[in-house]
Amino acid sequence: MGPGAARLDVARVRGLFPGLSDGLVHADGPAGSLVPESVLRAVSQAMRVPIANRGGVFPSSARAEQLVAGARSAIADLVGGQPRGVVLGPNLTSLTYTFARTLAKAWRPGDEIVVSRLDHDANIRPWVQLAEEAGLLVKWAEVDIESGELPEWQYDELLTDRTRLVAVTMASNAIGTRPDVRAIADRAHAVGALVFVDGAHAVPHGLVDLTASGADFLSMAAYKWCGPHVGAVVADPDLLESLDPDRRVPTSDRVPERFETGTAAFELFAGVSAAVEHLAALAPDATGTRRERLATSMAEVVRYEGTLFDRLDRELRGMRHVQVLGSPLYRTPTLSFTVSRMTPRAVARELARRSICAWDGDYQSGELFDALGVNEQGGAVRLGVLHYNTMEEVDRVVDAVAALA
Ligand SMILES: Cc1ncc(COP(=O)(O)O)c(C=O)c1O
Repeated sequence: MGPGAARLDVARVRGLFPGLSDGLVHADGPAGSLVPESVLRAVSQAMRVPIANRGGVFPSSARAEQLVAGARSAIADLVGGQPRGVVLGPNLTSLTYTFARTLAKAWRPGDEIVVSRLDHDANIRPWVQLAEEAGLLVKWAEVDIESGELPEWQYDELLTDRTRLVAVTMASNAIGTRPDVRAIADRAHAVGALVFVDGAHAVPHGLVDLTASGADFLSMAAYKWCGPHVGAVVADPDLLESLDPDRRVPTSDRVPERFETGTAAFELFAGVSAAVEHLAALAPDATGTRRERLATSMAEVVRYEGTLFDRLDRELRGMRHVQVLGSPLYRTPTLSFTVSRMTPRAVARELARRSICAWDGDYQSGELFDALGVNEQGGAVRLGVLHYNTMEEVDRVVDAVAALA
């Protein structure tokens, strides 16, 4: 965004979210965002008219087709993919299991996979379970427990010519770390391995480019970026063509349909498209194609969220009774912290008493929290900034945490 370009107008943005009328500070965005009116309206309008299943020759079936096509095209724009490479599903975890089962068909005993200790369990367990069933060696990329970084150099030792898959996150939903996915993917590709990247926590916090990231597969969940509860995996359609997922006999052999079993939540796909439009319109002067508008808007989101997060992070790190986990250099606006002599649950309760929504526990990043040694005390408390949060809310959070001393 150039000098003088229009900035995100947070008052306008907040007016788009009916959920904000509860007056609470929603610092729980990493677990799921609020939904703007445009998304609610898109879903309800989709359901006001008949939607049949796909494949018929009558209007309500054509409508289902349009909703699917709309969501594929929106997600393709969001991450720089192709609509034919967008696999839609009920959530990220079930799609990851689908891909794990599919890729495992080519695995042989003695092959290897590499998972990371930084990841959400959704991008660990499907791979580990399928690898163990197939007799593979599972290797772990470790987190530097001081910084919370996932050093890419360790992959030089982890990867061999038997490595079939590397699963790694684009950003940690627990401590915000953004590993150098491209550097990891380049190393993985050099030994012929595929790379499955969890984009759930990265996509809401900056423009993602599938090709530039080096990911072969990029998973995500629309409810992390103001959409409904829908998951997606994006890949090169040619790569999808080469795979043979388990499916019912009548399921289409076409890509990406062959990965999509059963009837989809068509009405929610209307919300997916509306959520991408919402993101693309966050910078008031964004122009051009939807992808170009997303680029302008997401750059503004990075700047805006960064301003809020810098203050939150600095203030909490300055408190003697607070320990912020890790200090990754390149990160999303998400942090986890503990408070001396208080359990995370007690801290979260105290914040809730002051109208602040914050998750406590390990947020399904149990491997990471075991490595950091915080699980024995109940994990940590997480605070996340999204584009509808304000500096005034950050001040409220800072005051509330300060009061726990
Ligand atoms: C980083 C990350 N990956 C995966 C998931 C799981 O997504 P889903 O609930 O759609 O399966 C989450 C949800 O919290 C997440 O934050």
